Order: sequence, then structure tokens, then C-alpha cells
Amino acid sequence: MDFTRFPRLPLLDLPSPIEPLDGLGRHLGGSLNGVRLFVKRDDLARFGIGGNKLRKLEFLLGAARAEGADTVITVGAIQSNHARLTAAAAARSGFACELFLTRSVPRSTDAYTRSGNRLLDDVFGATVHELPAEADSLGHAEARAEELRAAGRRVYVFPSGGSSPVGCLGYAACAAEILVQAEATSLDLAQIVVPNGSCGTHAGLAAGLRASGRDPRLAKSYAVLETADRARAITLDKANATLSLLAPDAALAADDILIDGAHRGSGYGIPTEEMLDAVRLLARTEGLLLDPVYSGKAFAGLLHDVRAARYPAGAAVLFVMTGGVPGLFAYPEVMAG
Ligand SMILES: Cc1ncc(COP(=O)(O)O)c(C=O)c1O
Repeated sequence: MDFTRFPRLPLLDLPSPIEPLDGLGRHLGGSLNGVRLFVKRDDLARFGIGGNKLRKLEFLLGAARAEGADTVITVGAIQSNHARLTAAAAARSGFACELFLTRSVPRSTDAYTRSGNRLLDDVFGATVHELPAEADSLGHAEARAEELRAAGRRVYVFPSGGSSPVGCLGYAACAAEILVQAEATSLDLAQIVVPNGSCGTHAGLAAGLRASGRDPRLAKSYAVLETADRARAITLDKANATLSLLAPDAALAADDILIDGAHRGSGYGIPTEEMLDAVRLLARTEGLLLDPVYSGKAFAGLLHDVRAARYPAGAAVLFVMTGGVPGLFAYPEVMAG
């Protein structure tokens, strides 16, 4: 797959490493039913505390630069990792950055409203506009972009999670990267697992797998924002839009998109007991940090499925560590202990 025809602003040291979860394996022993768990370290980064959004931002900021933009605007929840990394990458690359953040998660603690990602948005120098839960953040962002354009600025707007077809290219490229790494180490992967929020990470992987001639069902996600049905429909749309940039004659169907919605709990950003257990377990056996909103719930789902023997003994499963560490500091009242 050729990604060189897309403008790209390098932000990462790629490929990100793939590592076995030996400490977790020793701790859980037989309850893993012989499944071999690996992580892809998309949480490692040179700046901004890292996370999956940097792969999307390489293509989004590449497109912004190619269009001559001087300002980027994006949207998200108050504790959005995408917003924080957009602010960090914009600062590093010389763009002004504005964020429209909605109070969509029903939490009003100081830690949630002021610490974690929200604090870092300010530290990275972004201009932040906070909006009520029900506000149309993208509408506000577009209106602000028009206002800035009228004043002579060149503005590029990214949607929630950076999950436009251009942003999703980041995870199509990641799929190709994983296939090369697996081949080089003779790792026969049974599954690549990711969290599903704005659907772009899974969509990019599915598109990249299909464009590489592989089964898109090698990728699986656990929904943490939408219900499984809605996430499947959105992911399919985004995957096909991304695929049209890579292999215009190919298309994915609904059953190419594997999504499990059973570990979302009572809603986006609302902690579950199994998420807390998963975050602590990986921290205490590997020294690795999941996050409370995305990867914690997805890893809990993966552990549940491995314990329920959904994979045969000997299967190799790769979990993509998507970052989100600052989110831990937004939930001290449930994370401590
Ligand atoms: C830490 C983390 N993991 C996973 C995701 C999910 O990625 P996507 O929005 O592409 O589905 C996000 C998205 O916000 C995230 O911040």
C-alpha cells in the first residue's frame, strides 16, 4: 500500500513496538486458556504524552499544511485525548489551535473539569471553548472557522476524534505496519483489538487490512461511546470512505466489521468495575497504563473473551495500546485504591 501520495507530517517514531504481555501471562496463568497476548505500543511518543490520535494527526496536519492552513480547530468531550494531542501537535508544528469541548460526560468534579487532558489543553496553549452537553460542537467549530477566515486566517477543521477519511489513513497505515511486523517475526495473529470511540481507529484498520488483501475481521473493537449497532454502521461508513482513498474498487460489508458492545457499561466516560480491574491488573503486572474511558474498557472486554475461551489455545492476540493516560487523573475518586 502506498501512503506516500498523501501529505503527511511526521510526528511518531514508527513502527511502534509489539511486545508480549509476559508479566500478565505469568500472573493469570491458566485463566488465559493458552492465548498469547501482545501489545502494540501506540502509547509511546516523543511529545504530548502520546496516543492513537497522533497517527491520525500525521495525515490531518499533513493535509492542513498542504492546504496552507495556519490554524486548526477540533471538537471533543472535556477530557478528549484527541483535543489534547491536537493542541500538542499543533504547538509543535506551528499551527494555532482552537478546541470546542462539550460537557457530554455527567461528571462535575474538579478533577474531571480541570485536570487531566483539560489542564494540558491550556498548557499546550490552545484556545478552549467549553459548550453544554447537547451543543453542536462541529457547528460551533465551523462558525468560528468562518469568522477566522473572514479575518484572513487559513483554517482546517477536524471532526471528533480526528476520524475523517484522511485521519483514518493513519490506522490503515498501522494495519500495513502490523502485517509487516507480524510477518518479520512469524507471528500468526488471530485478532487485532482496539477500543472504538469515534470509530476511526477500527475503520482505518479494517480499510488497511482489506487494501492489503487481508480479512478485515482480523480487526475487532469494543465500543465505548456508541451502542454496538450504531458503532458498526458508523465504522463501516468510515472504513469505506477511507478505502475509497486507497483502493477505489474495493468495498466492505456490514459483517466485515466486528464490534462488541458488551463492555461499555452505562455510557461513555462512565467507569465500570471491570475497567478498574483491567487498568489495575495491567499496571500491577506490566507497569503499563490503560485509560479509564477507552482502552481500560476494551482491555476488560478482551480479558473477558480470553477467559471465556473465545480464542483457541495458542492463538496470538494483539491489543493496540491507544494511550489516554491523562484521563486517569480525571477520575481519582474511582482510580485510587
Ligand atoms: C485513548 C484512546 N483510545 C481509543 C480511542 C478510540 O479511537 P477512535 O475514536 O478512533 O474510535 C480514543 C479516541 O478518542 C482514545 O482517546
